[in-house]
Amino acid sequence: MTLQNKNILLVIGGGIAAYKCLDLIRRLRERGAGVRVIMTAAAGEFVTPLSVSALTGEPAFSDLFNLTDEARIGHIELARAADLVIVAPATADLMAKVANGLAGDLATTALLATTAPVLIAPAMNVRMWEAVTTQRNLAQLGQDGKILVGPNSGDMACGEFGPGRMSEPMEIIAAAEDILAPKETPLAGHKVLVTAGPTHEPVDPVRYLANRSSGKQGYAIASACAALGAETVLVSGPTNLGDPKGLKTVRVETAVEMLAACETELPADIAICAAAVADWRVDGLANQKIKKKNGGVPGLKLIENPDICKTISHHAKRPALVVGFAAETENLIDYAKAKRAKKGCDWIIANDVSPETGIMGGDNNSVYVITPDSEETWPSMAKSAVAGQLAQKIAEHFKGMQ
Ligand code: CTP
Repeated sequence: MTLQNKNILLVIGGGIAAYKCLDLIRRLRERGAGVRVIMTAAAGEFVTPLSVSALTGEPAFSDLFNLTDEARIGHIELARAADLVIVAPATADLMAKVANGLAGDLATTALLATTAPVLIAPAMNVRMWEAVTTQRNLAQLGQDGKILVGPNSGDMACGEFGPGRMSEPMEIIAAAEDILAPKETPLAGHKVLVTAGPTHEPVDPVRYLANRSSGKQGYAIASACAALGAETVLVSGPTNLGDPKGLKTVRVETAVEMLAACETELPADIAICAAAVADWRVDGLANQKIKKKNGGVPGLKLIENPDICKTISHHAKRPALVVGFAAETENLIDYAKAKRAKKGCDWIIANDVSPETGIMGGDNNSVYVITPDSEETWPSMAKSAVAGQLAQKIAEHFKGMQ
């Protein structure tokens, strides 16, 4: 019933898999969805507007400048009316255009204009799929919040074998239902503060001290909390990641700035300190670039940075739940327990950041979650999955307190 009365905008790209879209339209309609279709110029080489409109009950749209009544149903209206946009098949060309914000035809204009979720079902030759350029566009689309279904592996129309086959209509339907299913929001009414990323501690105007944190785990946690309905603020050190959707991101550079930004956001119900804050900063920042001197090296004097997790844990406006991280390279559990006590946080999430684990900067994480009355070992999983599980655990904790 999830698709009942939903407006789906289907963008059909120019690939052999376009024929599957006729079945997709039929199945969307069977589930009570209204379907409008935009065909790219190339799509018309594979399916006809007549077949499409016979199934949708509406004309198939394709021309940016020749819509029957632009005032009534222009590209913006097509984009605005949609609860979900499905791009199938998403060709390499269409993906590249959307990843770069090109808007030269009706399909790409509507995709740029829409604020609805966008589900992308790629289909292309395996070598085109594996090309660095396509993978880069794919990563960009993911960062921009587009959702991917497929591609599947198998025999391809071009005679090759591998990933590149468009998902079957029922797989696309399942992904669409997942996106449009009413979401549980057990953290609604709670404010969550998340720190993430490294901090940069300047040495002089061009140099800084830093660490290898990518920010991925903290960003994923902030997104997961927001997805469960929390009012979420992400205080982030310098990273290469874009601002996550559905929450407030505050960008800072140094530990001192990070602490100030966090204190501004208090009170909060929950604080999750995932940032790899630099422990020290340089005392006496040089105003000019430090120059080499014959045979000598500059003696940098370091002073300790404020401990943000500890400060929040002892704050007059202390959140009800403070979660710290323990990045260790040895004696993981013992050091993590000691850190929990030292910082005064409630839970601590320990992870082994030895270079051979690939955790720092990588996409996976394996963590130990230590609370006052439990110790859990979580299997290695994607950082997004760790984030989702942590957000659920926090939601259950608060439910238990009511
Ligand atoms: N942390 C913080 N402020 C700091 C240092 C750390 O808020 N100045 C937080 C981290 O975000 C993390 C926890 O404290 O939640 C532990 O960080 P970690 O780097 O593992 O430990 P440190 O306290 O820096 O101790 P050490 O470097 O001695 O292991």
